[in-house]
Amino acid sequence: MTVLIKTVNELKSKLSECNKPLGFIPTMGSLHDGHISLIKVAKDECKTLVLSNFVNKLQFGQGEDFEKYPRDIESDLKICEDNKVDIMFVPSHEEIYPNEEIEIVTLPVELTDILCGKTRKNHFQGVATVLHRLFNIVNADFVYFGEKDLQQLYVVRWLVANKSFSATVRSCPIIRESNGLACSTRNKYLTKDEKDTAANIYKALKLAKGNVRSGIFTPGKATLESLVFLSKIPKLKVEYFEAKSKNDLSPVSEKKVSGFYFLTAVHLSGIRLIDNIEV
Ligand code: PAJ
Repeated sequence: MTVLIKTVNELKSKLSECNKPLGFIPTMGSLHDGHISLIKVAKDECKTLVLSNFVNKLQFGQGEDFEKYPRDIESDLKICEDNKVDIMFVPSHEEIYPNEEIEIVTLPVELTDILCGKTRKNHFQGVATVLHRLFNIVNADFVYFGEKDLQQLYVVRWLVANKSFSATVRSCPIIRESNGLACSTRNKYLTKDEKDTAANIYKALKLAKGNVRSGIFTPGKATLESLVFLSKIPKLKVEYFEAKSKNDLSPVSEKKVSGFYFLTAVHLSGIRLIDNIEV
């Protein structure tokens, strides 16, 4: 049975007597197959598993979808029970940010001023700040994150390394819908036709990877080729499509044929979708 806990004190007292290793999966709820894949990996190596379900206002910019972000605690609890999550932690804003007395985490600009950070100012600071608080509360042995939000994963690794957390960060592969579209809570905003259109995002990433791996194009030329491909799809507007090194998301030399990612953010009918592929 999954225990639903709403307060920090109750969670801490429950965890003080839990079996180790303790695993932790932070989420914003509205759980889908991507989240479930993280639960499955965590269940394999942890004796106790906590999943947090908290829509973190701090990581949403002005005009973004904080208010209308899907929330469905009942269905999430059912998914947690079906997948044997021990604790679903559903705190209020006040519980996480009491009297707004919190340490705001400042990240290095090399991580925040690129890719999604260019348009989503303060987004990663908001992510790092809530994770800093949650990591301190849960004090897990293992924390689980999806490669779908790749830049976020690099932020998490920085946070653990630089804020003296002892947890091991596990990264989990991207789970996709049958047409290739990466699973995301925001896919709920899309119609069936829009999802078919959005499937071209993954096609563009695979095209770029294929062009590099077959030796036809350098990373830069492959990027341009995929941008041309995406520009021909009605309704899709590319925010960025870039190659970044696997090491630290720095720019990729034109000589590279592996050890990097193509990452993209695309807008469709007012919805922002992100995806990436490893080369
Ligand atoms: P959320 O979007 O709910 O995602 C929670 C976790 O699920 C993240 O680690 C994310 O990368 C992973 N995930 C989402 N879709 C996935 C997919 N298709 N395949 C694999 N993993 C996937 O990311 C957040 O919440 C928040 O920013 C959070 C870290 C909870 C901080 O508020």
